[in-house]
Amino acid sequence: MKIKNICCIGAGYVGGPTMSVIAQKNPGVNVTVVDLNEKRIAAWNDEDLDNLPIYEPGLADVVKEARGRNLFFSTEVDKAIAEAEMIFISVNTPTKTYGIGKGMAADLKYIELCARQIARVSTTDKIVVEKSTLPVRTAQALKNILDNTGNGVNYQILSNPEFLAEGTAIEDLHNPDRILIGGDMDSKEGRDAMQALVDVYAEWVPKEQILTTNVWSSELSKLTANAFLAQRVSSINAMSELCEKTGADVSEVAKAVGMDSRIGPKFLKASVGFGGSCFQKDILNLVYIAKSYGLNEVADYWEQVIIMNDHQKRRFAANIVKTLFNTVSGKKIALLGWAFKKDTNDTRESAAIYVADYLLNEQAEIVVYDPKVTEEQIYADLDYIGTRSEVENRKLLKVVRTPFLACENSHAIAVLTEWDEFKSLDWKKIYENMLKPAFIFDGRKLLDQKRMKEIGFEYYAIGN
Ligand code: NAD
Ligand code: UDX
Repeated sequence: MKIKNICCIGAGYVGGPTMSVIAQKNPGVNVTVVDLNEKRIAAWNDEDLDNLPIYEPGLADVVKEARGRNLFFSTEVDKAIAEAEMIFISVNTPTKTYGIGKGMAADLKYIELCARQIARVSTTDKIVVEKSTLPVRTAQALKNILDNTGNGVNYQILSNPEFLAEGTAIEDLHNPDRILIGGDMDSKEGRDAMQALVDVYAEWVPKEQILTTNVWSSELSKLTANAFLAQRVSSINAMSELCEKTGADVSEVAKAVGMDSRIGPKFLKASVGFGGSCFQKDILNLVYIAKSYGLNEVADYWEQVIIMNDHQKRRFAANIVKTLFNTVSGKKIALLGWAFKKDTNDTRESAAIYVADYLLNEQAEIVVYDPKVTEEQIYADLDYIGTRSEVENRKLLKVVRTPFLACENSHAIAVLTEWDEFKSLDWKKIYENMLKPAFIFDGRKLLDQKRMKEIGFEYYAIGN
């Protein structure tokens, strides 16, 4: 079966870039990305490509090529569902903030709403593709809803987790390590649906990199991949603390360890802590699933990755206070970077939020500079944590538009995102305009330690 019309519910960090690339590579297939958020859809349709709702290198070029040709962004959810043979669900699945599983389980209310909407609207057979990251066996729940509320329509459920990382989404989508498709391998209908999705990807991905498996293995593989990646970051971050005590350099350790071909060099960069919308959420979800099967040791094992990450963020902030003579009250501290990593405007679970919160509790005056994150977003992140009133947050923390302004007259700088532009700042000029002694706390090991010390900075890198 050749797919002619694709609908994707959810125009976020995954739905937007993924569907843009699918449309780019399948010019004969109409791809409509729908969302309830009118502002977001308007931004996806903005003539000025600088106003797309997501900052992602290379994204604007892809949108420019496909938008209006066979790529459409719309708020008309029902219409797009009705017209499509294949529907991707790419809505958010945050950690539950209420009820059973609060703080751990994935909140599936948005997924269920999608399923009910699909069931209500559909009059022709549909292939429903889970693009969101979901707990194992969610496909069964989806199928139950669709089969029991629909009007005789046949549904095939596929799992097709997304492995892109933000900041490199377009590169990851163009050259994926693998595409994973889970489906009902025991029925002809299931195999046909999988083949239809394989054909979409085969337009640009070599066949041997497209894996097909059963749905449960596919769903669990996504949680496993994120758990393993986050575990590597927590492992090297645990070593960074030991390096600081022993005088070893964590980059040297990472290099030596990463050259072992069994370990490999990637994801061994010590940092102020991992952030992003996925790692913490997916591990918590894994922990919850393990606990729900009574696998307490498995749950505790993975939970430790989160415990280590929380510790890393806290100890970075605590070290700033300790080094600044045990008080930062009334002191100006510049935060360079607010995004959870470079080349994205996404701030979900960014370590910067927690470092800022800790320092604000110590009554520091914080000034933030980030090249892509808006002032509105920074305040929204702080308000969401809820430690202080909105008025206090705006009084104690300021957002500026240049790194120089952030650092001017400050006691200390904390580098929290590894933006390339921070490497080539006029550090001598920045030093001259700071209060002395001038401190830098490099949470990303981004700057040249020797040079910073030569300029005169008191320089502290994570893991030395
Ligand atoms: P997001 O919050 O950026 O986007 C989700 C969008 O879905 C929002 O714009 C929201 O308005 C919309 N939405 C929610 N319910 C809807 C409904 N009923 N109808 C129409 N629109 C609706 O989230 P995201 O970062 O794109 O993540 C989506 C999923 O992909 C999550 O499950 C996440 O775990 C997974 N994932 C994310 C990444 C990543 O790097 N962000 C990578 C791989 C997988
Ligand atoms: C992650 C997964 O990599 C991706 O496959 C999945 O689809 C979504 O979740 P993302 O969160 O976008 O992607 O970014 P990633 O590059 O994985 O970084 C996550 C966090 O770990 C960032 O805060 C990053 O700074 C941190 N990190 C990563 C480190 O601190 N050190 C490293 O060596 C690598």
